[in-house]
Amino acid sequence: MDGRVVAIGADHGGVSLKSSLVSWLSDAGYPVLDLGTDGPVPVDYPDFAGAVACALRQGEADVGIAVCGSGIGMSIALNRYHWIRAALCSDVTAARLCREHNNANVLAMGARVIDEQTAIACLETFLRTGFDGGRHERRVAKLSALSGPTLSGTGS
Ligand code: RB5
Repeated sequence: MDGRVVAIGADHGGVSLKSSLVSWLSDAGYPVLDLGTDGPVPVDYPDFAGAVACALRQGEADVGIAVCGSGIGMSIALNRYHWIRAALCSDVTAARLCREHNNANVLAMGARVIDEQTAIACLETFLRTGFDGGRHERRVAKLSALSGPTLSGTGS
């Protein structure tokens, strides 16, 4: 544990895996900001992605975890916020690389895609891996510069 606060959100498809991840985080000593959902009632993943994004923006948390059925909806929604770099991961190699190369600040996972053991391994890797910097700094800066892009020639 390193004092970072971890915000975590899930829809109904990810709520069971979220519970396991919250338990692991608590056991590992991470302060957890659990943003729901908390039960099987169907909800809309963009609402919980937004809660995670807002927690990071407002400094209530340092990193985020997002879980839905596939992880895809959460990652699409989260990456619409310009301060978010969400990585959808299904294995520990991706969880390591998204930190080393992309300085990802949110880990998205699909509860219907990976098992609990793999998800915890991804979470642990994500939290314990640092950003490599160097040549990756320039590339990550270009991601930030993409905020609100317009397509040249379309007028949009
Ligand atoms: C909910 O049924 C499901 O669509 C959601 O959890 C997620 O997989 C969407 O990307």
